[in-house]
Order: sequence, then C-alpha cells, then structure tokens
Amino acid sequence: MARILICDDQEMMRDSLAATLAREEHDVVACGDPGVALQRVSSSRFDLLITDYRMPRMNGNELLAQVRKVRPDLPVVLMTAFGTVENAVAAMKGGAYDFIPKPFDGAQIKLVVDRAIEHGRLVNENQVLRSIVDQNAPRPLVGSGQSMEMIKAQITKVAASSATVLIRGESGTGKELVARAIHQFSPRAQKPFLAVNCAALSENLLESELFGHERGAFTGADRLRRGRFELADGGTLLLDEISEIAPSLQAKLLRVLQENQFERVGSSSTQSVDVRVVATTNRDLEQCVEEGKFRGDLFYRLNVVPIELPPLRQRSGDIPELCRHFLHQIARRTNTAYRHIEPEAIRLLQRYNWPGNVRELQNIIERAIVLETQPGVIRAQTIEPWLRVRPLPSSSDGDFSGRPLADMEKQVILTTLDQFHGHRIKTARALGIGVRTLGMKLKKWKEEGELIEA
Ligand SMILES: Nc1ncnc2c1ncn2[C@@H]1O[C@H](COP(=O)(O)OP(=O)(O)OP(=O)(O)O)[C@@H](O)[C@H]1O
Ligand SMILES: [Mg+2]
Repeated sequence: MARILICDDQEMMRDSLAATLAREEHDVVACGDPGVALQRVSSSRFDLLITDYRMPRMNGNELLAQVRKVRPDLPVVLMTAFGTVENAVAAMKGGAYDFIPKPFDGAQIKLVVDRAIEHGRLVNENQVLRSIVDQNAPRPLVGSGQSMEMIKAQITKVAASSATVLIRGESGTGKELVARAIHQFSPRAQKPFLAVNCAALSENLLESELFGHERGAFTGADRLRRGRFELADGGTLLLDEISEIAPSLQAKLLRVLQENQFERVGSSSTQSVDVRVVATTNRDLEQCVEEGKFRGDLFYRLNVVPIELPPLRQRSGDIPELCRHFLHQIARRTNTAYRHIEPEAIRLLQRYNWPGNVRELQNIIERAIVLETQPGVIRAQTIEPWLRVRPLPSSSDGDFSGRPLADMEKQVILTTLDQFHGHRIKTARALGIGVRTLGMKLKKWKEEGELIEA
C-alpha cells in the first residue's frame, strides 16, 4: 500500500484512476490543478505522483521540474495522449520514472504503479545503506596547519608497523578519529577495529569484556564469551581512557602486549592473538605512574609511539577548514543546501578557547544550522552568545595570538588575582599596575555583570 497523488484537470479521468488505485488498497489523493499538486507534495509525504501532461497553466513536464526541486526522490509517472512521443521523451529526460500513453486500461496502470513504487522503495533503502556505509567510511582528519600535518605524517608512519600507540589529548581533540585512521591505513584495515572504554566498566566486567570468560566462570556466566582481544584478532583494539584500568588488569594487559597471550576468565588454556593496541588518555600518565596508580612497565610498553593532539585553541588556523568540513558533512547527511559561514563568524570562532575542542565546534555548527533564520548563511550574531570566553586554567595554556586585548587583559588579571587568593595589592604589584587601576577594572566588570564576586 502506497500514498499516491493524482493530478489531472479532467474530472472523469481523475476519478476513475483514483477508484482503480483505491481498489488496490492504495491511499489516493486527487486534484485538478498542478499548482495544488505541487503544494501537496511539498507539504506531505507521497510515494508516487501520477500527472497528466496537458493541463492549464502548467504542463506535466513543468510540474515534474518543480517537483524535482522539492522532492528529488519522488517517482513521477506522466500520462500522455496517444502519439505525442516528444513529450514522453522530454518527460524521461526531465527525470520522470515512466510515462503511460492514453488511453490505458487498469492492468497497465497497475503494472506501472507497482514498478514505480518498488523503485522509490529501493532508492530509499539505498540512502539508508549509504548512511550506514558512511559510518564505516574513512573519516578524514581535517586541518592543514603544522600540528595536524605532523600528526598525519606520524599516522602514516606508524600505520605500517604493529607498534602500540598512545594518543594523548584533551577531550574532543580527535583521539578516536586518529586511532581509526591508524587502523584504516594499516595492513589490518580489512580486519576488525574494536573499541573498549576502560572508564565505563567495573573491574570485573572490563576483564571479561577484554579477555572473555568460560561458561560457569562466575555466577551469571551461563555461556562462553569471547573477549575483545579474541574478536579483534588480526585487527586493532582501541583502549579508551587507559589510565582508569585497575592494577590487576594492568598486569594481564601487559602480558598480552608482550607475549600476545592471555587466558579467558575461568580458563586455564592459553589463547594466542595478534592484536594491535591503540590506547588513549586525557590524563597525565607519567604522573599516574609517579603516584603509583599506573604500572611503569605498562606505561613504557604502551608509549612505544606517542601521539599528542594539541587542543583546538592552539591550532585556531584549522578552524575555517573544520567549519567548512562540518557544513559539507551536514548538508550531505541531511540532503540540504550548503550554508556559508560569515568571515566575521569565523573570526569569533578563532578567538574562543574551546574547552570541548573539535567536538564542541561540531556541536556549535550543528546548532547554528538548526537555529539560523537567515537562509544560506551562518551569521556571527547567531553564534556569538554561545561563545563565552572562560578564564584560562593557567596562563601558559592559551594561544594568545589573534584574540582581543581586552579579553586577554581580563583573563590575566583574574588568573593572577586567583593566584594571590584575591589579595589586590599583591596582584597589582605582580601585574605592574596600580591598586586603584585594578580596583576600577574589577568594579567595572562587576557592574557590567561579567564578574560575580571580586
Ligand atoms: N581533525 C578533525 N577533523 C574532522 N573531524 C574531527 C577532527 N577532530 C575531531 N573531529 C570530530 O570531533 C568529534 C570528537 O572526536 P573524537 O571522538 O575522536 O575525540 P576524542 O579525543 O576521542 O574525545 P574524548 O576524549 O571525549 O573521547 C568527532 O565527531 C570527530 O569526528
Ligand atoms: Mg574518544
């Protein structure tokens, strides 16, 4: 059963066709005016449009062209009078699914309709499949600034080997993306890529997730389960947030990395695997080692090839490219027109400090597309309220170039004030300004509501 729209200015014709198709259990809507038909297909979903060729105001081909613009995937069938082959040819060229010469009988029309509906269904399915394939397709690492170029070179180099890679970087900097790229460029690309988040599971669950268990190994283990190391055999295993792994598991992990061997939980027989491990962390692992929370020998084994992803605020030169990449991606995914981004909006984005890094940028672009009211563009004024400049965690952390002096001044003053626990005299002395000047600035920010307490 499909939803079909019929457009024909001759009432008799329209009604008899509608009745024929309704008998086939289709949901049929009929109208006599091409303008109305166009409105209907734009405002609700149909599986098929059947239209007459000769109609007042707009002929069938013109209607087809208009429909193509709003519903590129809707199959359209044209009815043409006997002998007007030229019109039929033009219709096919214009993207009609089929044409049917008048007069026709019920059996003929049913055949054409069934085929057109089936065709529409396949086109739809194809789109779903394409979006699934897209999820597995290589995702490009965007950014041609010096730091990204160096990272890409590192990826190509390490991909060829089976060396363990440790990727460091703040949240949202692209660690998983880099891990996937390493896999995709490696000789293991046709084998599985699996990921486990070490912070998300309790010690026991993580152990059986990684190494599997025998049937009866513990209460609830009612059947044998293969772990990620077995399932990823020949491929790559991403261990996310490796710093969170418990000490007992650290020992077991070290053994797989050194000997490619392990036992399933509750089993005494040894499994051998060939798995490339890529680990990520957004913590300082050396410090974890110093504090005795992370085994030193495991750290050295993981850190064979370190890759450091700099925070986005330190590579603001990549921001224009990243914006365009996300805009293209969204346009493609949602089948909508590409939106341009105002140069002024880009400048704003380049001055922001991005605590959530690339993920945050991606979210802001998606939000802007949804909320921007002006067609075709993303304006600075739309995104401006979302980019609150936050105080820097430490003054060595920021890339100060290209940001307004006033912002920087405020951040430096507030950070210093914080260092001296709010002591204004010490702060002023450290900054080389007068206490009165400092007091005036703080008062002004307070009045402007930019400062809660000072
Ligand atoms: N250089 C880049 N080019 C294109 N997209 C990127 C880039 N870096 C990150 N992204 C996108 O940003 C999002 C976050 O990246 P990813 O998940 O790899 O970050 P992560 O470092 O693993 O974050 P977390 O620490 O929170 O797990 C993803 O949607 C990813 O596709
Ligand atoms: Mg991640």
